[in-house]
Amino acid sequence: ASTLGAAAAQSGRYFGTAVAAGKLGDSTYVNILNREFNMVTAENEMKWDATEPNRGQFNYSGGDRILNHAVSNGKRVRGHALLWYQQEPGWAQRMEGSDLRQAMMNHVTQVATHYKGKVYAWDVVNEAFADGGSGGRRDSNLQRTGNDWIEAAFRAARAADPGAKLCYNDYNTDGVNAKSTGIYNMVRDFKSRGVPIDCVGFQSHLTNSAPGDYQANLQRFADLGVEVQITELDISGSNQANAYAAVTRACLAVARCAGITTWGIRDTDSWRTGANPLLFDGNGNKKPAYNSVLDALNSA
Ligand code: G3I
Repeated sequence: ASTLGAAAAQSGRYFGTAVAAGKLGDSTYVNILNREFNMVTAENEMKWDATEPNRGQFNYSGGDRILNHAVSNGKRVRGHALLWYQQEPGWAQRMEGSDLRQAMMNHVTQVATHYKGKVYAWDVVNEAFADGGSGGRRDSNLQRTGNDWIEAAFRAARAADPGAKLCYNDYNTDGVNAKSTGIYNMVRDFKSRGVPIDCVGFQSHLTNSAPGDYQANLQRFADLGVEVQITELDISGSNQANAYAAVTRACLAVARCAGITTWGIRDTDSWRTGANPLLFDGNGNKKPAYNSVLDALNSA
């Protein structure tokens, strides 16, 4: 196959990208999007600050633009993200305790209901674990509402949209380490108690290479009975093309790895300013990393 999406589809997988609503008028950007990708994530437009700027007042304009573009071009959508300690609207940042808990769950219910039946998966909770060696939760006002906030969010999301796969998503979880093991233990606990979780997202913001145990780490989560997804892939550094191929091969080697999403299209679209971590250069030309991903997908 000659495009990323079609090549991934040969093994039943998807190949996606993050999309910014403000770029849907850029013809170079849209041409690549429409040609290469068959899954779309809103880079910012479905986050809490964007969708509920004032408490109880919802705004789906940016998210809907992206969803409508995707659907009308035959692409699926990953929803990102229902609850995240960053990009909380100001009113939520100023809340704590049971008041905040109620607002959080209402947010999950309202947004998941708006997009009911329209998204393939939701990042229900994003980045709730701490960096470093503790393996524990990250402190935030969300966490301070009680350790059960994550499972409560997953239950609320399932009730609102039973058809969406519900994911936990995080970064620095790309190999076996204290943080990924903390998440692994949570997922195992959720599965054993029937908390509705279907997938784990590995953001994979990488420099030069993936950890040597990248595939093994995906596999141990898959062995818990959840789908694994590579959700925000970008790789900087001189070994970029090899590293992209290694990540692609790792996903292909794990039966429950459903697909790969890169976090933007052109290097100039990336949040990592100056890192040039994506598959297309600023002019929209394919980079060596593009060819190595396409070759890896085609040799599966
Ligand atoms: O839209 C406003 C604009 O009106 C304002 O003038 C401008 C001034 O700063 O800011 C614009 O908003 C920015 C927004 O991106 C849209 O460009 C925010 O400041 C900026 O913080 C925001 O950054 C996003 C970041 O998440 C927020 O933490 C990045 O685009 C986005 O790529 C990044 O994505 C995250 C994932 O959601 C979760 N995983 C990590 C990943 C990278 O940080």
